[in-house]
Amino acid sequence: MTSRHAVRPISIPNTGAMAGHAAQASGETERESIFYKPQGREVALFEYAFHNRLPVMIKGPTGCGKTRFVRYMAERLARSLYTVACHDDLTAADLVGRHLIGAEGTFWSDGPLTRAVREGAICYLDEVVEARKDTTVVLHPLTDDRRILPLERTGETLQAPPGFMLVVSYNPGYQNLLKGMKPSTRQRFVAVTLGFLAPRLEVAILIGETGIDSAWAELLVRIAGSLRVLKDHDLEEGVSTRLLVYAATLIQAGMDPRDACLAALVEPLTDDAETIAALAEVIDATLV
Ligand SMILES: Nc1ncnc2c1ncn2[C@@H]1O[C@H](COP(=O)(O)OP(=O)(O)O)[C@@H](O)[C@H]1O
Ligand SMILES: [Mg+2]
Repeated sequence: MTSRHAVRPISIPNTGAMAGHAAQASGETERESIFYKPQGREVALFEYAFHNRLPVMIKGPTGCGKTRFVRYMAERLARSLYTVACHDDLTAADLVGRHLIGAEGTFWSDGPLTRAVREGAICYLDEVVEARKDTTVVLHPLTDDRRILPLERTGETLQAPPGFMLVVSYNPGYQNLLKGMKPSTRQRFVAVTLGFLAPRLEVAILIGETGIDSAWAELLVRIAGSLRVLKDHDLEEGVSTRLLVYAATLIQAGMDPRDACLAALVEPLTDDAETIAALAEVIDATLV
């Protein structure tokens, strides 16, 4: 993989004072080719948006493939990718950059957003509603037709090159009045919703991700279907594709399937003992 194609995620740790935010290679293993099964027409939408310099918002529940999709598209469009995991301590300076003190005095250090603009890369703000509103304001001049990033501290104004793209994701399920995105921000993006995959696709993902055989993959997807029906009743969120991949990984590694399902598909969803028992019954009914 050449550096032009490299996927370089940066996560901003939730540590208040940030002593520099140099590009960190995250634990992700780089693959020659990122495995992604499209759910609908999201690949075409993303490509239209990229080529027409429009920012994209990806909505969907946790673990439904938002991050995987962005990584796949970055590779497909041969852009570097800067990923920022948003949290409520994230400041505008964490995105844009700040002056740091080094051996030779102070120097300016670009944040991931600035770096993506300079390089013509994709900047992906994961769970953008977690970021404070004053942080998202720095996105505004980048998301209209000016496509500029003013760096107040250095007096520079950067013009985003054609290769730059801003992508944000969020989970509408977590939205509340305090955290909802303002219309003035959300109406700057073209948007697409990713949801739970059709069973056939989810089976293919489990096989593709873990190498599990198709009989087990189908069984796990059937279990997920039964568990997802219970969403809204007792659970905040239904079992995600990510958790199914975990279950398949554990079974593939030789773990007892019931234990694997409890550990990956039940316990992460709830702390309520009664709900855990009810979900375990669903598993037992399917595994017999
Ligand atoms: N469409 C897909 N194609 C391939 N793998 C997928 C897909 N959707 C989900 N996955 C699997 O589910 C996991 C979680 O997806 P991720 O993109 O991290 O979810 P999100 O960012 O929406 O929380 C991925 O690591 C991958 O194993
Ligand atoms: Mg994600």
